[in-house]
Amino acid sequence: MKSYDLTSEEYNTILAFKRDLHQHPELSRNEVCTTQKIKEFLANIPSVEVLPLPLKTGVLARMKGTGDGPEIMLRADIDALPQTEEYESPWKSVNPGVMHACGHDFHTASLLGGILLLEKARMDSQLCGTVDFVFQPAEEGTTGARMLIDAGLFDMIHPDFCFGIHNWPSVKTGDVVCHEGALMSGKRNFEILIYGAGGHGSMPHLNVDPIVCTGAVIQSLQTVVSRNMNPLDSVVLSINMIEGGSPANMVADHVMMKGTIRSLSDSALDRAISRIETIVCKAAEAYECKSEIIWQERIPAVWNSPEMTALAKKCASVTGCRLTEAPPSLASEDFALYRAYVTSFFYWLGSTAEGDVPEELHKPRFHTDDTALRYGARLYAASVLN
Ligand code: NI
Repeated sequence: MKSYDLTSEEYNTILAFKRDLHQHPELSRNEVCTTQKIKEFLANIPSVEVLPLPLKTGVLARMKGTGDGPEIMLRADIDALPQTEEYESPWKSVNPGVMHACGHDFHTASLLGGILLLEKARMDSQLCGTVDFVFQPAEEGTTGARMLIDAGLFDMIHPDFCFGIHNWPSVKTGDVVCHEGALMSGKRNFEILIYGAGGHGSMPHLNVDPIVCTGAVIQSLQTVVSRNMNPLDSVVLSINMIEGGSPANMVADHVMMKGTIRSLSDSALDRAISRIETIVCKAAEAYECKSEIIWQERIPAVWNSPEMTALAKKCASVTGCRLTEAPPSLASEDFALYRAYVTSFFYWLGSTAEGDVPEELHKPRFHTDDTALRYGARLYAASVLN
């Protein structure tokens, strides 16, 4: 299969697009200007049809090839993070407290570059079937994929395969990771409420203290990972926020905690969820408190099948990228939710220049090597053309 590449002019166009997004980042569910810019870009490619999406942000578009073939979905995310950028560049964020610290601007521009390449293939009668382009909002917080699915994404498109890319700072530009098996962690965030009965701090016998109970709950939850999980499974349980009580002489009425449970194994995640429910309920009961757990949606692990990994390696081989390996990550990606609807694959693409020090995702000095945009564009296109 012929491999397509961006001309200098096309590369400069998507580079400028990426840097404009970087300078004007927008938070999840508020990617209004970003959405508009993507639509304006696509309007210049007559073969691309933008489909109506009943959401404030995000773009769904489609290109039809000249022959029969599979329907393939390419996904990029578009949102930024509530963070202050510290990395100096002419395109540093001008939106205070908002930053593209996960490189979703890079993904968006890469997909636009991929669309330019697919258009060339279509003109050469090399594009068969249909390609769906999903510019997904609100990946940070892992709510955007669900939002799109609930808005009827898979009623509007019926892809046979789906590909997504994340830039990966610990991997050098020009390298790509096609990892078989669990790549990124499943997770479930939660809020725990412990209800007691507040009163005067001098009269413990007349009150029910939720703070002492909370201490016991937090300590007991530590045993989920250490005592209930297979040590060969990667599992993390963290309580990251706690709030309750007010004056020093009053017993609190209730306490609220927020936390997250994560695992590369979906079955370990389910077992951990069940243990959290039991421990919270029984510990609360032991301290004469009442409890409640409010669970957010369970995000499964990003998992690449052996068949799709073999296909992805074949696609990557025509892009000029070198195949490399990197250890899986306990970070999560709501790309994982698409797997229930479509056979999918998730790449990690190297995004740190040779000689540069990698800055991890979500760090204030995070930045991508933009020469890697070429590889991003090629990888999206090759996933369709091979
Ligand atoms: Ni990300």
